Amino acid sequence: MNDQLPARQPGEKFIQDLFDRIARRYDLLNRIISFHLDTRWRTRAIRAALKPEDRLVLDLGTGTGDLALAAARRINREGKIIGLDISLEMLRLARTKSRKAKCESHPVFVLGSALAPPLKDGLFDVVMTAFVLRNVPDLPRFFLEAYRLLGPGGRLVTLDMFPPAASSFSLLYAFYFYRLVPWIGAGIAGERGAYKYLSDSVKAFEPPESVAQLIRQSGFANVTFQRFLRGAVCLHRAEKPASRQTQV
Ligand SMILES: C[S@@+](CC[C@H](N)C(=O)[O-])C[C@H]1O[C@@H](n2cnc3c(N)ncnc32)[C@H](O)[C@@H]1O
Repeated sequence: MNDQLPARQPGEKFIQDLFDRIARRYDLLNRIISFHLDTRWRTRAIRAALKPEDRLVLDLGTGTGDLALAAARRINREGKIIGLDISLEMLRLARTKSRKAKCESHPVFVLGSALAPPLKDGLFDVVMTAFVLRNVPDLPRFFLEAYRLLGPGGRLVTLDMFPPAASSFSLLYAFYFYRLVPWIGAGIAGERGAYKYLSDSVKAFEPPESVAQLIRQSGFANVTFQRFLRGAVCLHRAEKPASRQTQV
C-alpha cells in the first residue's frame, strides 16, 4: 500500500505511476464509489459534446476508455475517436474493452501527455475529457492545447468533480468522499494513498466559475457549465470561435 502524498500539485510522473497502479481496479471502484452515477454523467457529457456529423473526436486522459467508448457507440461509421493518456496500464485496459465493445468505429488509443499532445493543430471537431482536470499540473496549458487541436467552431466538453457548495449535503459528502473513499480504495485496490490523493484533489480543486474563466482566457467563447449532484460534478462546455476570415 502506498500512503505517500505529494506536498504540492503533483507532476505528470506521479499521476502516471498512480494510475498505472490503480488501473486494474479503476472501473470497479468508480462504479462503487459513485453508485454507478459516473456512467450517467459520462452519457450526459457525450450528449453535450457530440453531433452526428462529427468526424474527429479527441478524449484527453481517456483512462480505461469509458468516455471514448460511449462516444464510439454514438458516432457515425465515418467518425473517428482518439483516446490519449499518459498511463500505459489504463490504456491497456481501454484497448481490451474496445476489442469487446459493440461499435462501428473503435477508438484509437494513444500514449501521450495532454500538455503536449503529439497531434496537429485544428484537427478535431470535439475535444472532451472526464475526471482529468484535477490531476493536471498546468490547467491553462491544458486548455490552450485543447484550443489548438480544435478546428474553428469546434467544441470543448469537460466533466469533473468539484467541492459542493456548503450545505447539509456537503457535510455528508465530505464525510463520505474525503473520509470513507480512501478506505474503500484501500479495501478494494490496496491503495489508500492513491484514493486519498484523488479525494484530496477534489477538496483542493478550483470552483467551477474559475475553471470557466480559465477556459475563456484560452480563447474559447460561449463558455457555460451545468451542475450535477448539487455541484459535486460539473460539465463545462465551450466553443472555439469560427474563423472570421475567409480565404479568397
Ligand atoms: C480519473 S482518470 C479518468 C479516466 C477517464 N477519463 C474516465 O472518465 O474514467 C484520469 C486519467 O487522466 C490521465 N491523465 C492525467 N493527467 C494526464 C495528462 N497530463 N496527460 C494525459 N493523461 C493524463 C490519467 O492517467 C488517468 O487515466
